[in-house]
Amino acid sequence: MARASVTLKLATSMDGRIALSNGVSQWITSPASRARVHQMRREADAVLVGVGTVLADDPLLTARTIPMPDQQPVRIVADSHVRTPVESRLVQSAGLGRVVVASAQSAGAAVTALDAAGVDVWRCGDGSGRVSPERLLDRCAAEGLENVFLEGGGHLAGSFLRAGLIDRIAWFRAPILIGGDGLPAVAALGYEEMNAASRWTPVATERIGDDLLETYIRPDTV
Ligand SMILES: NC(=O)c1ccc[n+]([C@@H]2O[C@H](COP(=O)([O-])OP(=O)(O)OC[C@H]3O[C@@H](n4cnc5c(N)ncnc54)[C@H](OP(=O)(O)O)[C@@H]3O)[C@@H](O)[C@H]2O)c1
Repeated sequence: MARASVTLKLATSMDGRIALSNGVSQWITSPASRARVHQMRREADAVLVGVGTVLADDPLLTARTIPMPDQQPVRIVADSHVRTPVESRLVQSAGLGRVVVASAQSAGAAVTALDAAGVDVWRCGDGSGRVSPERLLDRCAAEGLENVFLEGGGHLAGSFLRAGLIDRIAWFRAPILIGGDGLPAVAALGYEEMNAASRWTPVATERIGDDLLETYIRPDTV
C-alpha cells in the first residue's frame, strides 16, 4: 500500500513567519491567495493541522469554493492528548464532512465526547505518547486518502519534514515583514551541517496579486 502523498502549505511573510509572537496569523496573505488555498483543499483527500492551530485559530478547514464542492476533504487534527475542544468550529461542523482526531489515546472522557459529537478518533501514537506522522499517513492510506494537504503549524510541519514525509511545498509569501519574534513556518530541525539541510527543487513561481506562490518538490521525485 503506497503511503499518502503530502503537500505542505505555508502562508508566510517575506521573512518566513506564519504568525505574530502572540499567535495571530489572520491574515498574512491576500484574499486571492486564500481563495487558492480553498481550491487546494478541494483537490485534496484530507486537510491536516496540529492541535496548536486548532487552539489558536479555531479553523473550519473546509474547502469554501464557488461552487462549493459536493464532498469536503476529511479534516484531520494531530492531537496526541485529545485537546481538540468539543465546542470548536471543527467539531461542531462534523455534519459538513468527516472530522478525525489522530491521537495517541483511544479511550477517556475526551475521546467519548468527541465520539458523541460525530468525530472519529484514530490511534496513531509513536510509543512515546505523541502522534506518529508515519502511522498517521499509513492510516490515511488505509482509509483511501491518497493526497494530504498539511496546513501547519510550524511544529507539525517540522515533524513531517524531519521524518522526510513531505513531497511538495506550496509556499504563499506576502510582501510583509513580521520580524524574528514572529512564529517560524517550520520549527527547529536541528541541523549542524549545511549539507544536511532539507533541500527542495523549485518547479513553479506564480504571482497572485502582490503575493508569490512558489512550488517545490523533493529532489528525488524530479
Ligand atoms: N500562516 C499559516 O500558514 C499558518 C498555518 C497554520 C497555523 N498557523 C499559526 O501557527 C500557530 C500554531 O502553530 P504551532 O506550531 O504552535 O502548532 P501546530 O503545529 O498546529 O500544532 C502543534 C501541536 O500538534 C501536536 N502534535 C501531534 N503530533 C505531533 C507531531 N508528531 N509533531 C508535532 N506536533 C504534534 C502537538 O500537541 P500534542 O503534543 O498535544 O499532540 C503540538 O503541540 C498559530 O499561531 C497559528 O495561527 C499559521
